[in-house]
Amino acid sequence: MALMRIVHYPEPVLLTVGKPVVDKDFGTDLESTVSDMFDTMRDAGGVGLAAPQVGLSQRFFVMDVPEEGVSNPLVFINPEIVRVEGEQVGDEGCLSFPGLYQSVKRDMRVVVRAHDVKGELIEHDLTNLAARCVLHETDHCDGIVFLDRMTVLKRELAKRKIKHLQKTGKWE
Ligand code: NI
Repeated sequence: MALMRIVHYPEPVLLTVGKPVVDKDFGTDLESTVSDMFDTMRDAGGVGLAAPQVGLSQRFFVMDVPEEGVSNPLVFINPEIVRVEGEQVGDEGCLSFPGLYQSVKRDMRVVVRAHDVKGELIEHDLTNLAARCVLHETDHCDGIVFLDRMTVLKRELAKRKIKHLQKTGKWE
């Protein structure tokens, strides 16, 4: 098991649009990075982790939102949201914002197209937490963080909380 360093807001890589993964990027190096990202995500207690969060400015992420208590690990390379439906409002966290949870409005259902780690085209139709996670992680691939998805009021509140966490040394 190899753990990677998770970068915290406001490191620039989190605010940069990731490069698409190209043909030559597929192979054993990518597979081992993905495996390390799963280890890192689980060790940190998260359900999703995007490449920019481990300092790689590329468009891919891993997630494991259990279905009826059963682990369901998925890899999304070059994710594209093709359809959304409905609305959900709920608390969201992010491994790059340790200790911060804030209410964010998201689509209730997403259809997402991507490639898996072997380069095969995949499509998933997901709802609830899995949909929220896909939207959150796809945003990371595009240099967008969940602060950007909050209402102005919630964002100001979140920024104040971050400052407090930084001052008290809880933002390492
Ligand atoms: Ni995140």
